[in-house]
Amino acid sequence: MALFDGQHIVAEVVYRQSIHASYGGVIPEWASREHEVRLPLAVLQVLEKTHLTWKDLQVVAAAQGPGLIGSLLIGFTFARALAAAQGLPFIGVHHLQAHVASLELGEKPVVYPLLVLVATGGHTHLFRVAHPLEMELLGQTQDDAVGEAFDKVAAFLGLPYPGGPEIEKLAEKGLPSAVSFPMPRTARPWDFSFSGLKTAFIHARQRHMDLPTEDLCASWQHTVFTYLVQKLIQAAQAHRIPRIGLVGGVAANQYLRQLLTQAAAEAGLDLYLAPLPYCMDNAAMIAVAAWHRYLTGHYTPLTAAPFARE
Ligand code: KG4
Ligand code: ZN
Repeated sequence: MALFDGQHIVAEVVYRQSIHASYGGVIPEWASREHEVRLPLAVLQVLEKTHLTWKDLQVVAAAQGPGLIGSLLIGFTFARALAAAQGLPFIGVHHLQAHVASLELGEKPVVYPLLVLVATGGHTHLFRVAHPLEMELLGQTQDDAVGEAFDKVAAFLGLPYPGGPEIEKLAEKGLPSAVSFPMPRTARPWDFSFSGLKTAFIHARQRHMDLPTEDLCASWQHTVFTYLVQKLIQAAQAHRIPRIGLVGGVAANQYLRQLLTQAAAEAGLDLYLAPLPYCMDNAAMIAVAAWHRYLTGHYTPLTAAPFARE
């Protein structure tokens, strides 16, 4: 839950659900129940922190989709009810638009147009962003999302969910050049594919049982991110866009941030990285995206419904 004043996040309450850790992924039913319990408390806590009341609010926003429908229904319905009760406008925000808007929570003022890679557990989407409300999809994964590949590899190793940070921790202690993995290929130049790399990890593990898991993770992570970085740089050059951005849960990975920072500098591209606290799903990015719609009067009718897929 975040409270935004048009420029800054004034207060926020973040609750990360840990109940899914040992199950290899999010259990949708549990996620919904946790939302149901936490949401009313989070709203009250945010108001308490700021000494504001319902009367001080101007607009209420919530994620509309794509995402887990049970969780979306609870947040969306809660926010619509709040807006209706207070007579406030309501804005339903597109999940990916919000990830892109997380760049505006960084220190560097964002200049558009911008080429942005959204790298999460559900999406690996490349957008040309002309304005926070105007995004053109240039390419996307043809199978697993990059975060999903991390989660599946982690689950294969018996590590907790989410798998990305677990693989990153192991990779820090390993050798990125220990094993070489083949780079994926796609029919269209700006699409992605990760399921082959995921299978290659499993085969490599079975073939080199004596190889330290740290080396295997470091090599695999290196290949995945080299692939992402090369694509992003090439796409920016091909589209003649001098600025690139990286957002989403996977953007929290320090190794990826380093690789991209170096590659962008070498290519002479201006780089925007989502601030670390706003890489994984969060309310602040929903608020920033909603603010752009609020300014242009793009309200959402209270009869609108959340959606699971685009
Ligand atoms: O954006 P996000 O919180 O939720 C979705 O919209 O999906 O992204 C979650 C994904 C998970 O797959 C998680 O494993 C991955 O982001 N992730 C990471 C790291 N932190 C989170 N992947 C690689 N390295 C990380 N440090
Ligand atoms: Zn997300």
